[in-house]
Amino acid sequence: EKGGYDHFMLKEIYEQPSVIKDTYRGRLNSAQGIIKMSGIEDNLEKFLNANRIIIIACGTSWHAGLVAEYIFEEFARINVEVEYASEFRYRNPIINSNDVVIAISQSGETADTMAAIKLAKEAGAFVFGVCNVVGSSISRESHAGAYTHAGPEIGVASTKAFTTQITVLTMIALRLAKAKGTLSHSDFHRYLLELELIPEKVKEALETNDIAEEIAATFKDVANCLYLGRGYNFPVALEGALKLKEISYIHAEGYPAAEMKHGPIALIDEHMPVIVVAPIQGHYDKIVSNIQEIKSRSGRIIAIVTKGDTEVRKLADYVIEIPETSDALSPLITTIPLQLLSYHIAVLRGCNVDQPRNLAKSVTVE
Ligand code: F6R
Repeated sequence: EKGGYDHFMLKEIYEQPSVIKDTYRGRLNSAQGIIKMSGIEDNLEKFLNANRIIIIACGTSWHAGLVAEYIFEEFARINVEVEYASEFRYRNPIINSNDVVIAISQSGETADTMAAIKLAKEAGAFVFGVCNVVGSSISRESHAGAYTHAGPEIGVASTKAFTTQITVLTMIALRLAKAKGTLSHSDFHRYLLELELIPEKVKEALETNDIAEEIAATFKDVANCLYLGRGYNFPVALEGALKLKEISYIHAEGYPAAEMKHGPIALIDEHMPVIVVAPIQGHYDKIVSNIQEIKSRSGRIIAIVTKGDTEVRKLADYVIEIPETSDALSPLITTIPLQLLSYHIAVLRGCNVDQPRNLAKSVTVE
């Protein structure tokens, strides 16, 4: 049932090229310049008239929401707020009837997300669900939705759910951008083509498995780890840290790289591994100077870089090379080596990768 893999988590990591394709198949047609999801088409006016989009989710799904915030704002120029469902529901939030709420949940059963949806509905907002489990409570409670087609995710640590959530949310943003004219025709087309190349690039990114395993062997006994990224890859840093924490029990924190100087840089010494997500697209020069700051304080640097990178390589102790894509789509690729790194560290530490202590796959209690 694990398809020859040692763990469900590894199997699910390796399924990503095909499930990302499953998620856009029948919905995206680059030759015709079409993105079509019935849940969006049927409610297009609601999205176009929305004052803002409020994304509610927990854990990894919340990280997908953060990536989506950047994508929606850039592509469709809609104001987006991303909320932890648990915080949103208890703070007497301001919800208007022309707000669109997007709830993201792999299981579709998360209690806090469910409660936040009910609250939003009572306030008259339109609720759109992005779920993986078909027929789940959240998918039923939402007014409309779009499923991710990740298939069953059994490993407690979410992997393929995350990348398929980002895929669905990117398609929604592109559809809205088309309707609003906020992306040029050529950019819109370029993104459709690039999305279709993602499965192949994820496959290539999976070839970092061996180097991830080597790096894991070097770092498996550390007590702490810092993950840094900027822009679209800031949420990837958060997600990388969460993956490490939950399955290897190593303390890890994700930070926007520029925040280092506001506190966390005090932690840097030769014992602190820093994993930096530094693809060539995006804020490359800025992240290179962030890496220099770490280097000059003797931090050990593991960098995720684009193939052919020259600058980061000069500074980092280890580089993991991934294929190039546009800045906005890069989380789909940069996430892959971080999943593999946590997986191997956890395995080498003898942890129960698929069922980490204290965690459940569906968090149905608040
Ligand atoms: C992390 C993880 C959790 C879930 C969170 C939300 O790997 O699995 O953080 O992402 O409990 O779950 P869903 O998406 O089912 O609402």
